[in-house]
Amino acid sequence: MDVTFTEEQEALVMKSWNIMKKHPGDLGLKFFLKIFKAAPAAQNMFSFLRDSKVPLEENPKLKSHAVFVLVMTCESAAQLRKTGKINVEDSNLQKIGATHFKSGVTDEHFQVAKTALLETIKETVPEIWSSAMENAWGEAYDKLVGAIKCEMKPSS
Ligand code: HEM
Repeated sequence: MDVTFTEEQEALVMKSWNIMKKHPGDLGLKFFLKIFKAAPAAQNMFSFLRDSKVPLEENPKLKSHAVFVLVMTCESAAQLRKTGKINVEDSNLQKIGATHFKSGVTDEHFQVAKTALLETIKETVPEIWSSAMENAWGEAYDKLVGAIKCEMKPSS
């Protein structure tokens, strides 16, 4: 279903992202440490954490997953404003859906990640944080997760 995502909402997401993206590594780590604090067992789902000998904080793949989440949420905000729906290239969404299905990611994980994402943004750009900004990020994230969940089935 199409949604209304306004230019103001897109601008709130982009304004905060343009500041935050200067330190994507720190940001990504902060975000995932919050997720693992709320859901410690989630660490075992990541193959690159299970098999790793380096401490969590030094794992480059964890940072890149976090940056994926943030960047894709920003892209979703732009798409929602332009078209009212998420149109990440279909094959990409299918791949992401299948990977999360296979890894055992649940609704609860997506919910924990949403809270962690919003807290991370609030702590990173407190000077411009507002409830409108929170809603804009929250809505773009929810719609992206909805699109991923539609593709959460075994890969064919
Ligand atoms: C893998 C994006 C949320 C756990 C991936 C990949 C992408 C991605 C692009 C790589 C896909 C591939 O290689 O096929 C996203 C986005 C999210 C999200 C955009 C939210 C909007 C989550 C959450 C969790 C999670 C909440 C769990 C707490 C995983 C796991 C993998 C993965 C376990 C596989 C890692 C591995 O073992 O290589 N995700 N993700 N993701 N994601 Fe997410």
